Amino acid sequence: MPEETKTMSVEEHVSNNISGETWEVVHYLAMALKADNEGKTEVARTLRDIALDEAAHGARFKYLAGEIGDLREEIEKMLSGEEGAFDGKHEGMKQAEAAGQKELASFFDTAAHDEGRHAAMLRNLLEQYF
Ligand SMILES: [Fe+2]
Ligand SMILES: [Fe+2]
Repeated sequence: MPEETKTMSVEEHVSNNISGETWEVVHYLAMALKADNEGKTEVARTLRDIALDEAAHGARFKYLAGEIGDLREEIEKMLSGEEGAFDGKHEGMKQAEAAGQKELASFFDTAAHDEGRHAAMLRNLLEQYF
């Protein structure tokens, strides 16, 4: 075991695990996209299964660390993040268009719409349940 790991506090272990698992989720899912594009469907499926496990690990560590506060406040915070992401992705789309990166611009557009949809879903939760 590296010296560094031994001297870390429980809180540091938990915090490192949250960021590590978070990174892994995105990386496994990106690997799965590559596998899909290469026609390796079973490889993609397995990588997605692993990504889901990693997401669950990160979520549980975050929950156990007490990082999730009052649900209404959490939803409001995420709502403002989704709204910011909508604007940010539109900005990214314009930059990608200007740089002639069509596929990237198109995906920024698609993802921006997803963020807008997420915001609408959260607004709906606030109206219906809080
Ligand atoms: Fe994990
Ligand atoms: Fe989102």
